[in-house]
Amino acid sequence: RRRIAILISGRGSNMVSLIEAASAADFPADIALVLSNRPDAGGLERARQAGIEALSIDHKAYSTRESFEEALDAALSERGIDFICLAGFMRVLTPWFVERWAGRMVNIHPSLLPLFRGTHTHQRALEEGVLVHGCTVHFVVPELDAGPIVAQAVVPVVPGDTEDTLATRVLAQEHTLYPQALRLICEGRARLDGGKVVFADVWSAEDSL
Ligand code: GAR
Repeated sequence: RRRIAILISGRGSNMVSLIEAASAADFPADIALVLSNRPDAGGLERARQAGIEALSIDHKAYSTRESFEEALDAALSERGIDFICLAGFMRVLTPWFVERWAGRMVNIHPSLLPLFRGTHTHQRALEEGVLVHGCTVHFVVPELDAGPIVAQAVVPVVPGDTEDTLATRVLAQEHTLYPQALRLICEGRARLDGGKVVFADVWSAEDSL
């Protein structure tokens, strides 16, 4: 069984959905650690309440990105972590860290990538006038929000939407999408091969007709 660490920076609602999904007996992985770069992240307490070790490594205590990431990497290695889920983790990771965890680190992003990489995705979706929006789970590569896509969910943009109403609609989808995507990966049904995600036993041509 894979030993997963979830990296957060804030409230951790995606983290909670992963923890809940992983508590099912048939889930193919264990959430072994929650790690935050911000000591005040609300998600830390929620993880502890769920009985999961929750650690903060304050990036402000380190003078360089590299030294922060070395501390992160050491904490992960010490606990035998073999897979990382970024869930609202708002620090850009250096190529060193990303390469070290290549094929073993995924992220959830609140847009239909490759649209709206980076921040303020809901505001930008509204400004562009797109009629569909959503979220994406992808493997992490050095270029920000540019990695191979594992899963996406779509929501409509409706008249009168604000950043908040749209964010809420997308977040509800994130909470089901992320556990599904993690399950696919841990069961070997979605795997990286030559820089692309290859799927097995996920759907057949008949399903989509
Ligand atoms: C989520 O919407 C997630 O997709 C987004 O931050 C939110 C975290 O919420 N992530 C990013 O923007 C990554 N660049 P949560 O802490 O409640 O899971």
